[in-house]
Amino acid sequence: MNQTKVVLSEQEIPRQWYNIIADLPQPMPPVLHPGTKQPIGPDDLAPLFPMELIKQEVSADPWIEIPEPIVEIYRLWRPSPLYRAKRLEQALDTPAKIYYKYEGVSPAGSHKPNTAIAQAYYNKQAGVKRITTETGAGQWGSALSLACNFFGIECKVYMVKISYQQKPYRKSMIRAWGADIVASPSTDTNAGRKVLEQYPDSPGSLGIAISEAVEDAATRDDTKYSLGSVLNHVLMHQTVIGLEAKQQMEIAGDYPDVVIGCVGGGSNFAGLVFPFLKDKFAGQPLRAVAVEPTSCPTLTRGPYAYDFGDEAQMTPLVAMYTLGHNFVPPPIHAGGLRYHGMAPLISHLVRLKIIEAVAYQQLEIFKSGVSFARAEGIIPAPESNHAVHAAIVEALKAKESGQSKTILFNLSGHGHFDMASYDAYFEGRLVDHALPESDIQNALDLIKNYPPVE
Ligand SMILES: Cc1ncc(COP(=O)(O)O)c(C=O)c1O
Repeated sequence: MNQTKVVLSEQEIPRQWYNIIADLPQPMPPVLHPGTKQPIGPDDLAPLFPMELIKQEVSADPWIEIPEPIVEIYRLWRPSPLYRAKRLEQALDTPAKIYYKYEGVSPAGSHKPNTAIAQAYYNKQAGVKRITTETGAGQWGSALSLACNFFGIECKVYMVKISYQQKPYRKSMIRAWGADIVASPSTDTNAGRKVLEQYPDSPGSLGIAISEAVEDAATRDDTKYSLGSVLNHVLMHQTVIGLEAKQQMEIAGDYPDVVIGCVGGGSNFAGLVFPFLKDKFAGQPLRAVAVEPTSCPTLTRGPYAYDFGDEAQMTPLVAMYTLGHNFVPPPIHAGGLRYHGMAPLISHLVRLKIIEAVAYQQLEIFKSGVSFARAEGIIPAPESNHAVHAAIVEALKAKESGQSKTILFNLSGHGHFDMASYDAYFEGRLVDHALPESDIQNALDLIKNYPPVE
């Protein structure tokens, strides 16, 4: 391909999401009620989510229609471009062909609005007036505040305290789109107050912020809760990324040997990769690589077990790779991707060995992010740097073996609001960090009395 990028027309925006559940070679373990430890039903989720999203969560239909009002908003930035990273290939002097799908073109700067818009739409349809959520580095909180703003819904964001302090401009974006934001742990909820009593200086964690947002939604009639990753329907909304990428790869006259994405909760990875896995299930040779940080090595070192999605144990029990629901990542970690668990769908596919998982240190991922920025111009989000690094590792392996291969990765967002992390890297303030074995032991101890996964 001589073109640098493949751009589709607005008519080519996918009209259906792909639901991988329909094609799984083995069904997933059931989600359990935290009290009874029995499989939950749709009614158990009704206090938190509108029924249309609950239906999507448990649906076995392979394709789900995207309503027109959602497509209309998608048109603001979709289809997103697919780039051939020719300048990076040259800089690496590799025979590999590197492609990336760029999701940083959305107004919030990442893939997150793909599901935020869908979730806000279904909440609006159900008459919901107010939505609560958590956010780590602020990408999800900004995406949901954008979406709520479009649909005239109030939004309250619980932002992990360390990020609230370190990333003031994501906070400003959230306010610009009209949402309310508070640092978590906060004094606004029982869950937050309890953590503050025990650890007044807690830097917060996604697990704590989820507890606060869930409690807020569960205790008010006019409010529902929204999650930016992990759940089946969230991963499904992101498949517009991979469905577009498949059309674009076809126009480029290529097909990937390996598809790569970073994983926090798993949504951008799933979005790019699941539509390609449909081909893998049909016999297409393809590797899929999920990339996580060594300081939060859920897939590569966590046990696969039933655990809670939040710190205060308010969510259902789900079977997943987990570092324990009370896991708090080290504050020195600047690379994002800090969630203790992993999407049940991704966990299941890793367990079935359909997906590979790797973990990298933060210094190497920032080094690769900077190489990418110098070759391609775009400054990636620290989360996306994990995928960039894995793509570079694959390209260098191809150079060593002298074999060409086609690599496709998801550049899930730009890093314009993460420049403090880049400064820390340039000024030598970042250090590598691998999770000590005692933390893994702690995770095992914490979950040892939960039901075993069949
Ligand atoms: C740019 C970017 N990429 C990746 C992630 C990780 O989330 P997920 O694993 O759900 O894609 C985030 C999370 O906020 C993000 O902002």
